[in-house]
Amino acid sequence: MCGIVGYIGGDPAAPFLLQGLEKLEYRGYDSAGVAVYDGTSLRVVKAKGRLQVLKGLIHDGKDVPGTVGIGHTRWATHGAPSDINSHPQVSDSGKFAVVHNGIIENYLALKQHLIRRGVSFVSETDTEVVAQLLEYYYKGDIMDAVIKVLQKVEGSYALGIICADKPDQLVAVRKDSPLIIGLGQGENFIASDVPAILSRTRDIYRLNDNEIAIIQREGVRIYDMDKELIPKEPVHVEWDVTAAEKGGYEHFMAKEIMEQPKAVRDTISPRIKDGRIVLDNITLTADQLKTFRKIFIVACGSAYHVGMVAKYVLEKMTRIPVEVDVASEFRYREPIIDEKVLVLVISQSGETADTLAAMREAKRLGARTLSIVNVVGSSIANESDDVIYTWAGPEIAVATTKAYSTQLAVVYLLAIYMADLLGCLTAEEYAAYLTELQALPDKIEKILQNRENIQYLASQHFNAKDVFFIGRNLDYAMSLEGSLKLKEISYIHSDAYAAGELKHGTISLVEDGTLVIALATHQNLFDKMMSNVKEVKARGAVVLGMTTENNTQIEQVTDHVFYIPQTCDVMLPSLTVIPLQLFAYYVASMKGCDIDKPRNLAKSVTVE
Ligand code: F6R
Repeated sequence: MCGIVGYIGGDPAAPFLLQGLEKLEYRGYDSAGVAVYDGTSLRVVKAKGRLQVLKGLIHDGKDVPGTVGIGHTRWATHGAPSDINSHPQVSDSGKFAVVHNGIIENYLALKQHLIRRGVSFVSETDTEVVAQLLEYYYKGDIMDAVIKVLQKVEGSYALGIICADKPDQLVAVRKDSPLIIGLGQGENFIASDVPAILSRTRDIYRLNDNEIAIIQREGVRIYDMDKELIPKEPVHVEWDVTAAEKGGYEHFMAKEIMEQPKAVRDTISPRIKDGRIVLDNITLTADQLKTFRKIFIVACGSAYHVGMVAKYVLEKMTRIPVEVDVASEFRYREPIIDEKVLVLVISQSGETADTLAAMREAKRLGARTLSIVNVVGSSIANESDDVIYTWAGPEIAVATTKAYSTQLAVVYLLAIYMADLLGCLTAEEYAAYLTELQALPDKIEKILQNRENIQYLASQHFNAKDVFFIGRNLDYAMSLEGSLKLKEISYIHSDAYAAGELKHGTISLVEDGTLVIALATHQNLFDKMMSNVKEVKARGAVVLGMTTENNTQIEQVTDHVFYIPQTCDVMLPSLTVIPLQLFAYYVASMKGCDIDKPRNLAKSVTVE
């Protein structure tokens, strides 16, 4: 959702900016640009299209000299993708250049105000207003101008600013959009996300809302809006450079799918000590847990689908009622929340605007919040009462895979932990769940080793026009994820249905050759699922079934089968999801789609 990067130091800025943008391209890729101080003025080059276009224009940065600069990769919100609407946006006289991630909600009123005072605008973007306001308020002190601008703008922003009058400074500020500051030797950086700077440093500051960073070659000072210095401790990031590289795979998505056994193991193992689940730093007590009348889960997209699984799992294991909501709906429907409610927030990035806003609303209404987050120190992690991190490492592909799997792993850890605190499990049940949980990485590995079977099935069906995913209970939750994976990266229309619902309407869409993926991994629902499969077969559907090993009677009713290893019912989703991810991946690959950067999408959606 737009990536920003900035450099100040002794090296040429532009090549670093391009490298950083390459690592941030997953956040938006409809245009890109850089602004560099070239010794006399700000040199701005920007272009519609992928980063590659910009790189070609400036010969990998060689044509733009200078050692201080900012860069941007865009996911358009205000104004269509075009050269003019690309960032950096520049003030009237060319004194200020600005890169922005977020949305300035009141930009139209501010724009009209400036136009009445003779300022002329060239773009349709909200960001240009920031550049023009900076120049309008600038009287020789950048920080004063920045503070005035921040008092005027409403919305969300991470901003990188350079000024031709002060080429020894790079200014950064944020509110509700992520921004980090990288600390180097004789050079410093800003970026929307860690991978952009990993090649140069792993020591960072995470900027909080309304903090203003003045970044110079030799140091970084951070101020509040009253110009008081804020002391800050640097954070050392554990991710290494290779974690954000493709490592020989054709796509990040393939690499991330294959990393799942390790990611799930890294998420589970440190939390099991001497046969007990230990959730370090969790302040939620057994007494508090007993007071909850309800658990709400809020999340978006695939994280919401994890929430759908979590509903079944938590209700079954803790007997506390659970409601799941997409975050963008939750906020505006006056949810019935009080201090007797636990709100579980699930987010890979920890920055998704709707999820963050839903969490804030829940807190305002008195709920206790617990988040499951991948990015350490992100806004959701910082602001929730408790956080459990998924140790998935950086996820670069826009379509989530390993973050999804590690979120599921945390859901299981949490469900067993809570059920135990509530006295809902016998010692034998507790031990049995832990054994199954610890066996998941090897079982995921086994499915991945047999991926040729799925690749073959993908080769038979990559031309499908419509695909229906059906399942019951947890398999319905998995159908939702399987369908989303397929449509987002292959652009094939697909939908997920609770299998028992088909006969209430949807079955009218099934005709000769319609592809149906039927998930039948739960033994207690197997016969019911087979009846549903027969119903669609009778209308001409081609059915790919998925069930657990040895359940071979499925072969009598379906056209092809994926088998997954057996585990306890609640943990089957961790295995079911793997063939679904692989199927979507291979179909998209055979169709020649841009798998890591699907059209119209961006990772980490920091606008509402
Ligand atoms: C789909 C996908 C998205 C994200 C959603 C939430 O493959 O990745 O649906 O799950 O945008 O993002 P986070 O988890 O960062 O809050």
